Amino acid sequence: MLFVCSIIGYKGKSLAAPVLIDSLKRMEYRGYDSVGIATITDGKILVRKGVGKVAEVNKSLELVRMPGLVGIGHTRWATHGGVTGNNAHPHSACTKDIAVVHNGIIENYDALKEELILLGHRFKSQTDSEVIAHLLEAHYSRERNIKQAMIETCNRLKGTYAFVAVFEEGAISGARFDEPLIIGIMDNGYFISSDILGFLKYTDKAIFLDNKDIAIINAGKLELFDFEGLSVKRPTTQVAWELGAAEKGAYAHHTLKEIHEQVRTVIEGISSDNKEKIGTFCNFLTNAKSIYITGSGTSYHSALILKHIFGKFAKIRSETIMSSEFQYIALDSIDETSVLIAISQSGETADVLQSVKAAKQKGAKILSVVNVPTSSLARISDSFLNVNCGPEIGVAATKSFTGQLSVLYNLTDRLCNGCVGIAANKNELMTALNLILAAENNIANMVDIMDDIKDIYILGRSLHYPIALEGALKIKELAYIHAEGIAAGELKHGPLALIDKNTMVVVINPLDATFNDTISSAHEIKARGAIVIGISDKENDLYDHFIKLPKIKETLFPLIEVIPLQTVAYYLALKKNADPDYPRNLAKSVTVK
Ligand code: M6R
Repeated sequence: MLFVCSIIGYKGKSLAAPVLIDSLKRMEYRGYDSVGIATITDGKILVRKGVGKVAEVNKSLELVRMPGLVGIGHTRWATHGGVTGNNAHPHSACTKDIAVVHNGIIENYDALKEELILLGHRFKSQTDSEVIAHLLEAHYSRERNIKQAMIETCNRLKGTYAFVAVFEEGAISGARFDEPLIIGIMDNGYFISSDILGFLKYTDKAIFLDNKDIAIINAGKLELFDFEGLSVKRPTTQVAWELGAAEKGAYAHHTLKEIHEQVRTVIEGISSDNKEKIGTFCNFLTNAKSIYITGSGTSYHSALILKHIFGKFAKIRSETIMSSEFQYIALDSIDETSVLIAISQSGETADVLQSVKAAKQKGAKILSVVNVPTSSLARISDSFLNVNCGPEIGVAATKSFTGQLSVLYNLTDRLCNGCVGIAANKNELMTALNLILAAENNIANMVDIMDDIKDIYILGRSLHYPIALEGALKIKELAYIHAEGIAAGELKHGPLALIDKNTMVVVINPLDATFNDTISSAHEIKARGAIVIGISDKENDLYDHFIKLPKIKETLFPLIEVIPLQTVAYYLALKKNADPDYPRNLAKSVTVK
């Protein structure tokens, strides 16, 4: 199951509830089946929580009217226990002097719960998270020492977690183990959040907690220490993103806005401040005996393209392995002469981080390509390149995919002295991106007249095959239609049996070395009655619908041909009344295995 929750804590000079609601709305893209808030007023903790989106729960429970200058909030994506009001966070302990919000999984919650029940604790939810509140209460009730209670609690928990607790006396405390937790520092108060978007509107000064860090915010002070109780110091970082970049502006959805932003983000991926770091990457790569590339979902598709362009242009042999399979395939052959390139938009994906940690333990050097330079992945890498495409709110990756490609093409261009031609063709690329985005209305009209489609196949050869996989992933995620990317040459080895007049086949077929072979595949499909959509710079009578690609240096086609596929997926989603920004069952970053 895929999920991730958002947590936020606030202690400052303003009323906490309106600030918490605003912050939760900004993080809603991470997980959103239920919502809750706890604030402190007159020395008492008040909790309100319910099922639905932030705006709905706020309307029905008037969360925004809750009094108090200190509070915590949560949007939940159900894992342990169904989607019910009781299972929503915050969870309070029996005496109600502590409330807790949590992101992650407490693996030993069953055993802890049994133990706590024997001590007389009464549980109100089916969640794993509630044990944190009761454990804290058990330790806190002895000496009312928050620091000691936090340390003892953290040392009993197994699993991955970031949690924030509010204490009746007015303090907030948070701890992290393998889930992100960030402190936002204001002139007159603090935030503690799972995502910088939770507080970026209020401050751009942040402290990224390390694993096994505990923070206590009390009496206007921030105290940091580790699970042993030893005081720790963490640097304060100035976070660069503009909050405006996280708003939808005039667009109907973040996803559509992000599709359109690709004109800028692809070009910035080439021009970005990665120059020096690309030099470091080149040094590591030229000295490595073996090179592995990993990523999940869309980032895995970028990894497939990197393997291809490394081999074709830079004459570098590499192996691409999806992160969830990495430990089974690669670990035995990795050693200190290896380099692992990890690609991730968020830099927080659990499968990716696990692969990286395991490779690092075997001595491999870690190079990463991330869109969040302060992420866990960036911080454990020997060097990283910044995709720098700004916050991506739509759950489906769009601009981060082409942003990754742009950075990876640029790296390969450097390794082969410009033979890929991305830097030299920057202006042509920008024109081509503008032209393909201008095809939006035609694509919307084409989707509009399509009959109810059950199966879509997308064919591509060579570099176009990972794009076929990515296009199919977008259609599955956004429009809930069965879609498959197929290497066009493999059609005759099996998939052709599926093709009939009820199927729709998209053929990615720009005029390059793959063109003639892919046209042959399109003939085979057409002969079996399927509807054929051609994506190409050369029209052909075979196509029932045609999406024209602008002329561009042929190596650069992948950067533009994916855009019509993203657009098709977006309009198919609208046609099915699905919310393209928040696909069902999915969350933006998958921070658990
Ligand atoms: O943040 P990451 O790039 O590591 O995320 C990896 C995948 O979870 C992600 O690409 C996912 O497949 C997207 N929903 C694709 O649109």
